[in-house]
Amino acid sequence: MTLREGGAAMPSPVSLRLPLPACDATLRLHAHPTETPMNAHATFTRMEHSTKEDWDIITGEFMKISKTLPDRVLAHLLLLDGDTGGFAVDRLTHSLQTATLALKDGRDEEYVVCALLHDIGDTLGSYNHPDVAAAILKPFVGEANLWMVEHHGIFQGYNFFHHVGMDRNMRDRFRDHPHFDRTAEFIELYDNPAFDPAGETIPLAEFEPMVRRLFAVPRNTVYQAALDAMKARG
Ligand SMILES: [Fe+2]
Ligand SMILES: [Fe+2]
Repeated sequence: MTLREGGAAMPSPVSLRLPLPACDATLRLHAHPTETPMNAHATFTRMEHSTKEDWDIITGEFMKISKTLPDRVLAHLLLLDGDTGGFAVDRLTHSLQTATLALKDGRDEEYVVCALLHDIGDTLGSYNHPDVAAAILKPFVGEANLWMVEHHGIFQGYNFFHHVGMDRNMRDRFRDHPHFDRTAEFIELYDNPAFDPAGETIPLAEFEPMVRRLFAVPRNTVYQAALDAMKARG
């Protein structure tokens, strides 16, 4: 969705149950997924004083925590459930319909997950929600899909900016960009028509395995060398 204000109230801690048998787990956004024994904590109080031994502890914890990233992504997506923001469907339904249209149209898994998560930033990025989705997806998707997600708000604006005192042709600033057509197509085929209370809405359960596969292996991160070292260490 586009042009967000407000958003769903977030209880703390957030406890969400995915409406799907494949993920029969209660997800707590604020829960620490692992318990670290007190004696396994790093001891530095200033980062500059950290040691390799400290970082062996921290990276060990990171490896455990990173495995549950898909749980946190799915839990955050569920914050859109019931949050209509004045639209005819809530933001989760819009996300599911966008992904449904992409899936039914034969798009590949990465594209479908991008469609599913393109508005995941609605509750946190009231003034730049596409940036939130792009930041979450950046390590896991290719450059074309990343650009598409990052710019979808301005491209969706073609359909409504003129109603809120803005230039609907703002997207034209990117007219010569190699991903202009891809992004315009995403809006036209999937994001634009996904506000229909009667529209086909595949449940999140069917997309969940795709999310887990996509977020399993980062391919674009400044921490790649450290990840390789951690993996080699086992
Ligand atoms: Fe959006
Ligand atoms: Fe959207």
